Amino acid sequence: MAELTVQELHLTYGDNPILKGVSMELNRGEVVSLLGPSGSGKTTLLRAVAGLELPHRGTILIGDKIVFDGSSGVELPAENRNLGLVFQSYALWPHKTVSGNVAYALKLRKVASNEIAQRVADVLKQLGLAALGDRYPHQLSGGQQQRVAIARALVYNPRVILLDEPLSNLDAKLREEARAFLRELIVRLGLSALVVTHDQNEAMAMSDRILLLNNGRIEQQGTPQEMYSGPKTLFTAEFMGSNNRFVGRLAEARDGRARLEGDGWSLWGTLRGEPTAGREAHGGIRACACRSARRCTWATSGSTSSGWAKCRCARTEARSSPRASTG
Ligand SMILES: Nc1ncnc2c1ncn2[C@@H]1O[C@H](COP(=O)(O)OP(=O)(O)OP(=O)(O)O)[C@@H](O)[C@H]1O
Ligand SMILES: [Mg+2]
Repeated sequence: MAELTVQELHLTYGDNPILKGVSMELNRGEVVSLLGPSGSGKTTLLRAVAGLELPHRGTILIGDKIVFDGSSGVELPAENRNLGLVFQSYALWPHKTVSGNVAYALKLRKVASNEIAQRVADVLKQLGLAALGDRYPHQLSGGQQQRVAIARALVYNPRVILLDEPLSNLDAKLREEARAFLRELIVRLGLSALVVTHDQNEAMAMSDRILLLNNGRIEQQGTPQEMYSGPKTLFTAEFMGSNNRFVGRLAEARDGRARLEGDGWSLWGTLRGEPTAGREAHGGIRACACRSARRCTWATSGSTSSGWAKCRCARTEARSSPRASTG
């Protein structure tokens, strides 16, 4: 069952359309990454789901409950949506201890104090923060602050958590560890998570599915493997990995394959888009799927060596065939 459903969501700031008909689902137990370039609308979508921005059209359901419906005017306030939220900046209260930060929202909701103490202790333990409850945020490392922000989102026992670039403040090494930790935690607690990132590697490593946003629209969605190996557009192909790109003319197309032709070369590949013979078209070969057929020579700081040009893809076993896409 879908824990979160977004249908045809439109949102504008002033006259500026930001979300232009976004539809997506987050299923129980899934980690879905919202990926896309800066300004594509990732944070806006997350904030709209959380109830912090007001869309002007479309529908949002959490479980089977409608929390926003543009046509009937339903708009449930953020605090009643039962979502855990983790902001990029962590937004911890500097004058409250770790326990105080985690307990704060439960106090606002007037939960009994013995229950607050128990829930805070439980969630700090789950996140490996049990010994740090009395510290203040400035006495914590970046990774520990990030875990406090997650603890604060989890203390309500939400079914869905929304995380906006949760790892972007961490250095590269910590970020890799936190990625694995976060995914393991989400799966262990049986949560569903929508994670905003603009880092393709992070999305590939953490998610069951990726939604790629481009200028307020979902360009493509699928598993990391589908997104990497089966891009439907040039935009997806470029965003999801490094390619060797070449431009030619579409010479022929049949059975889902196409032949691109240029000066002195011709290459078959998988066809993407609508074929129009004779039209200019772009081809791409994943850089990690390339192996030179000829012995080649390259120069390295003052000396010259030679060998077989071969590269392996560090991230995936995908071996994509050459792709040609019109457009
Ligand atoms: N409050 C606002 N008023 C007007 N325009 C806004 C507002 N917030 C965001 N925008 C615009 O909406 C667009 C989408 O912004 P958003 O923050 O959703 O992008 P993003 O995909 O999260 O980008 P980034 O990766 O840089 O965080 C941008 O063009 C931004 O300038
Ligand atoms: Mg953002």
